[in-house]
Amino acid sequence: MARKKIIAGNWKMNMTPSEAVELINTLKPLVATDEADVVFCVPAIDIIPALEAAKGSNIQIGAENMYFEEKGAFTGEISPAMLTDVGVKYVIIGHSERREYFAETDETVNKKVLKAFEHGITPIVCCGETLTQREQGVTIDFIRQQIKVAFLNVTADQAKTAVIAYEPIWAIGTGKTATSDQAEEVCAAIRACIAEVYDEATAEAIRIQYGGSVNASTAAELFAKPNIDGGLVGGAALKPDFGKIVNYK
Ligand code: PGA
Repeated sequence: MARKKIIAGNWKMNMTPSEAVELINTLKPLVATDEADVVFCVPAIDIIPALEAAKGSNIQIGAENMYFEEKGAFTGEISPAMLTDVGVKYVIIGHSERREYFAETDETVNKKVLKAFEHGITPIVCCGETLTQREQGVTIDFIRQQIKVAFLNVTADQAKTAVIAYEPIWAIGTGKTATSDQAEEVCAAIRACIAEVYDEATAEAIRIQYGGSVNASTAAELFAKPNIDGGLVGGAALKPDFGKIVNYK
């Protein structure tokens, strides 16, 4: 069975709650489609108004992060139960900005991925190499390591429902999109790694996005690649252009 595309916006630290509502109202008619899952991952404080604004549309609301403990003395963190209580179905885990600025590691990513599954939330698990790693020729080795640790103790049935976002760090927010061949090469390697860790059926089912300066003019070529099942979109997800990315065909 063909995998359904999943196109997600990653708003990062943008949009106040009132701006979020306005943006969703603008984008609602532009992202209407049955062909792809459309997810807006928004700042925690925007989640509730975003859910309200997206009601009756095909837009699903996701979180940008969550903590791996159930509850307790973890000032400033958001728990998985808080997300499911309001109806959040997706959470971005291990974005490179969280790894760089907030000390997330492959190990904390793994804990969060396990916790998300425990609560029935689909993790969008991020991986991606630096420019130095690409130049040194260790991209695939590095990504395989990130994926193997992120999926430690995750069952095949869980992994089948997961989303992986391949986001080369040098392409994020730089306007330097990876070429479709570069992106496809790594996404294919990620699928091969999942086949190795699990089996072919799991590798066929899991959805792998490309992220990093995706825009209305690069989306079609990227998403046409056999191992690229959609995108994780930052900057362009905050503009009407996101409608063109979702309806890329
Ligand atoms: P970008 O961000 O599209 O602005 O490069 C992508 C991301 O970081 O998820």
